[in-house]
Amino acid sequence: MKKIFSVLLAAFTMILFTACGGSAEKSSAPEEKAEAPADKILVAYFSCTGHTKTAALEVAEILHADVMEIVPAEPYTPADLYYQEENCRANVEQKDSSARPAIKNKIDNPAQYKAIVIAFPIWWGAEPRIIDTFVESYDLRGKTIVPVCTSGGSDIMTAVKNLQGMCKGANVTDGKRLGIISKDEVKAWLETLKL
Ligand SMILES: Cc1cc2nc3c(=O)[nH]c(=O)nc-3n(C[C@H](O)[C@H](O)[C@H](O)COP(=O)(O)O)c2cc1C
Repeated sequence: MKKIFSVLLAAFTMILFTACGGSAEKSSAPEEKAEAPADKILVAYFSCTGHTKTAALEVAEILHADVMEIVPAEPYTPADLYYQEENCRANVEQKDSSARPAIKNKIDNPAQYKAIVIAFPIWWGAEPRIIDTFVESYDLRGKTIVPVCTSGGSDIMTAVKNLQGMCKGANVTDGKRLGIISKDEVKAWLETLKL
């Protein structure tokens, strides 16, 4: 009886082993796929009136990068952006350092990107709070983050400093104000980053 039981147990173990693939080579295949190298560049832009979008698309063309628009869950209306009105939505958000306006969409497979160019308009001297939402939505450790902006005249320095504080473990490069320099100048600057 004991012998019959042992034979049955051995047969059952063999069937189970065969059904599950059995070889170490086969079972490791999905893991190899998940560890594909992060070798691509993404240009992610937020733009309400089109200036930053134009600049971002130029950068993406130069870098042969993927493009993603950062889409607010609640779109900004002209009244929201009318910053001459003290309590318009954009002003209220900028005055509140904890404001994190929701984003409708996500990066498709963030692991595939080694570098992310983040393009935004300057609002009250800094990045719009939705950019803070964006960078806090991902694990950016080990990635290169390139801030670029458009503005009516303000520089990008404060936004770069803020992003350096938020993107822990990422390499946040110097930023650039776009829309005021030629495509060749944008290209020359991007080359210095060696992405
Ligand atoms: C709420 C708000 C605040 C702004 N604050 C500044 C500012 O502090 N300095 C500046 O130079 N431009 C400022 N601007 C102008 C925008 O940065 C500029 O028009 C930008 O190019 C708009 O980009 P977009 O067309 O991609 O939305 C502000 C615009 C808005 C709507």
